[in-house]
Amino acid sequence: MKRALIVAGILTLGLTAALAQSNIVAERQSLMKEFGAQTKTLSGMLRGQTPFNLAEAQAALKTISADAKKLPAMFPDSTKGVPKSDALPSIWEKKAEFEQIFVNLDTAASTAAAKITDEASFKADVPKVLQNCGTCHTAFRKG
Ligand code: HEC
Repeated sequence: MKRALIVAGILTLGLTAALAQSNIVAERQSLMKEFGAQTKTLSGMLRGQTPFNLAEAQAALKTISADAKKLPAMFPDSTKGVPKSDALPSIWEKKAEFEQIFVNLDTAASTAAAKITDEASFKADVPKVLQNCGTCHTAFRKG
């Protein structure tokens, strides 16, 4: 009886851990989707498809900066190789390099949010923010 309880306990623990893993993967994917939405706003203005709007640009950059601070903690070892994730194993082999790109993205986004005053400074600074997305995806995300 005692043994059965222990086994049941271990099974529950295992299940809880699996759930925690899939939650954290879903959570980081939803933050990445938010990155995607902010980037859409910014690139629309960069390409002139939507009119430049300083307040909207700053808000998008601030959201990117805030999310970039949350994301490094969302790649624990326990999520290495889980299905339904496009994260490459290289993340865990080069963790410092991976996390540095989030720091670079955060710094670039918060600097740009503070610096941009008009469309010209927006067009000069925002590409430097967005290049971090591609740098990381090339090295650390499946195809
Ligand atoms: C330091 C690395 C890194 C940076 C910087 C980064 N990403 Fe990602 N991104 C990833 C990884 C890894 C995944 C796959 C996550 C998963 O599936 O577990 C991903 C997934 C995504 C996805 C797919 C989400 C989904 O599953 O639906 C989008 C969209 C995305 N990123 C957009 C962006 C944009 C836009 C930026 C820049 C503002 C950005 N990312 C910056 C590493 C990064």
